[in-house]
Amino acid sequence: MTTVLMISPGYPAEMGFFTRGLGQAGATVIGLGDQHQDALPPIAREALDHYVQVGSLTNLGEVAPAVREVARHARIDQVECLWEPYMVLAAQLREQLGLPGLTVAQTVPFRDKERMKQLLDAAGLRTPRHRATETVAGVWAAAEQVGYPLIVKPIDGAGSADTYRAGSAAELDTILPALRHVPRVSVEEFIDGEEFTYDTICAGGQVLVENICQYHPRPLQTKLHEWISPVTLALRDLDEPGLAGGRELGRSVLRALGFADGFTHMEWYRKADGEVVFGEIGARPPGARTVDVMNYATDADLFTAWAYAITQGSIPFGVERRYNAASIFKRAQGAGRITRYEGLDHLLAAYGEHVAAIDLLPVGAPRRDWRATLIADGMVIVRHPDLGPALEMAQRFAAELHLFAEGT
Ligand SMILES: Nc1ncnc2c1ncn2[C@@H]1O[C@H](COP(=O)(O)OP(=O)(O)OP(=O)(O)O)[C@@H](O)[C@H]1O
Ligand SMILES: [Mg+2]
Repeated sequence: MTTVLMISPGYPAEMGFFTRGLGQAGATVIGLGDQHQDALPPIAREALDHYVQVGSLTNLGEVAPAVREVARHARIDQVECLWEPYMVLAAQLREQLGLPGLTVAQTVPFRDKERMKQLLDAAGLRTPRHRATETVAGVWAAAEQVGYPLIVKPIDGAGSADTYRAGSAAELDTILPALRHVPRVSVEEFIDGEEFTYDTICAGGQVLVENICQYHPRPLQTKLHEWISPVTLALRDLDEPGLAGGRELGRSVLRALGFADGFTHMEWYRKADGEVVFGEIGARPPGARTVDVMNYATDADLFTAWAYAITQGSIPFGVERRYNAASIFKRAQGAGRITRYEGLDHLLAAYGEHVAAIDLLPVGAPRRDWRATLIADGMVIVRHPDLGPALEMAQRFAAELHLFAEGT
């Protein structure tokens, strides 16, 4: 029986499902987190054999002795973390305990977008032209080399925060003040194209589950305009010729970074001429409920599939792509609390049987910050075996479902 130390087993909320999966896969699960045990979501709490609470997961000086103490009483076989901020902590603990899995040196390329692209360049893979810099003068020098249009973004960013496109030196000049608080930025060639993910569950260096989503529209657009309802569409047919280049790139990236076991989430661009270009990769699942979307596309539980893959090296059930599944995120009009919905009734009358999930903020709930969370004021998941109808439904939920808010 494998004993897994699971970092942050109950936060963010998705972690609870992975923690439960570990229990279902037969592992003994020790949780390590900064939440009080009573604050853990029940699905996580019920799956834990033991829980260690620390004041802060950012303080290795506190975490390491706490984990050593656990290791004196129980044999820890694996340290797992699926949440980006603590990936390096997980690697440090592995090294201290002499456990297999990603080392610190192997984890850094998944966190540092410059290091990541350097390794992929060395492997001959297509990345956007790029330079990292810590100074304003450095940005201007990088812009000279990279050319316009370009993108400036944090080296370890998430959620498109502090990410800007500049079409000219004049535009770059207006953007720079907004980046003053970012210590290290990446200046990149702007890739004009469609945006996709390439997500996997791997074991022993083999890809056991593959997934591709298309973003509608591009995430940067989504971040700029509040009126947009972002759509993430998990594609059923991965053998479609237009995806072959992205799949091949994805597999090459995993090989180049030496990834063997666990979940990965990569983003890539497809230009109008068909060229595919690497975007970024994380050694973790996609966020924003995308694993749910993948589950609705396959009728499988990929939280548990991950747990089997990393503890047993294989998944004991089939993962078959049956649907195109799309999440549509909604942002209310107006500030304050949700007062009403518009359009839901007619959309459900038209498409009800294809609606897999509705998770909108209830009337009376305060709006969420749409810039801080892609989930915003809620979401709908639709699915259909055929791509055309799936896309059409997603677009109609995007355009015709409205949430309204009022007050402060
Ligand atoms: N070189 C580029 N060319 C074109 N668009 C880019 C480029 N770099 C970033 N973008 C745009 O900005 C978005 C966010 O960039 P990126 O994915 O690198 O950062 P992130 O903040 O980690 O994103 P995420 O939202 O996935 O957490 C991309 O999805 C894309 O729309
Ligand atoms: Mg991204």
